[in-house]
Amino acid sequence: MSVPKHIAIIMDGNGRWAKKRFLPRVSGHVKGVSRVKEIVEYCSVLGVRYLTLFAFGRDNWKRPQEEVSFLMNLLSEQISKEFYKLHDKNVKIRFIGDRARLSTLIQEQMDSIEQLTSNNTAINLNIAIDYSGTYDIVQAVNKVIATNPNAPITEDDFSKYLLLYPDPNPDLFIRTSGESRISNFLLWQISYSECYFTEKLWPDFNKKALDIAIQWFNSRERRFGMISEQIQGVL
Ligand code: IPE
Ligand code: IPE
Ligand code: MG
Repeated sequence: MSVPKHIAIIMDGNGRWAKKRFLPRVSGHVKGVSRVKEIVEYCSVLGVRYLTLFAFGRDNWKRPQEEVSFLMNLLSEQISKEFYKLHDKNVKIRFIGDRARLSTLIQEQMDSIEQLTSNNTAINLNIAIDYSGTYDIVQAVNKVIATNPNAPITEDDFSKYLLLYPDPNPDLFIRTSGESRISNFLLWQISYSECYFTEKLWPDFNKKALDIAIQWFNSRERRFGMISEQIQGVL
């Protein structure tokens, strides 16, 4: 079985997980972060080279103020505690998104953990915070305009301005919680990803669930516009 080189996940369903248990929504977020640790470590063991997780979207600021504050505090706590444990596991951590709207404390925490882990080699972990796919494309366009406004640009060159660069595009894209939409996560970069939607809520998404997703990935034939016979090498 081949392991996808890059997996991207929309970690959705924390609120519903809590609601089903008559708990406040935020307890779903707490359970959700414990899965993050488990899945990052498992991906590393499996040999996944890149893992990109959608943790907080640009539209999530619209949630009730108390939930946003809780999520920001949880993020800060995770960076200062759990992410240092990931450093011990040789995980390279990078954040993608617009940092300007985050607190100075969180921005500093992000900078230091990125710097600390920059030479780690076990797995590349990208955490998308205040990220959206449309924001990513527009910030890239603005950088292109600022550097070379009058020259035409190729797709390959344009992709160098996107926030995920220099990482390769995801092979497997997973969304938990039964929703089959992209919710403004990666757009450009998932042009040829295999997209896997599961009913499982993120706090229930364990190693076994990831194994099932990878098995499904292995059952797909990625043709990139060609025909089956070309992929199988019989033509
Ligand atoms: C995903 O879970 C976590 C974040 C968006 C931060 P949700 O909080 O969206 O959970 P549901 O979709 O309401 O169940
Ligand atoms: C997407 O989930 C964002 C994250 C998981 C971080 P949402 O729960 O915000 O998406 P919608 O609102 O259901 O589309
Ligand atoms: Mg949701």
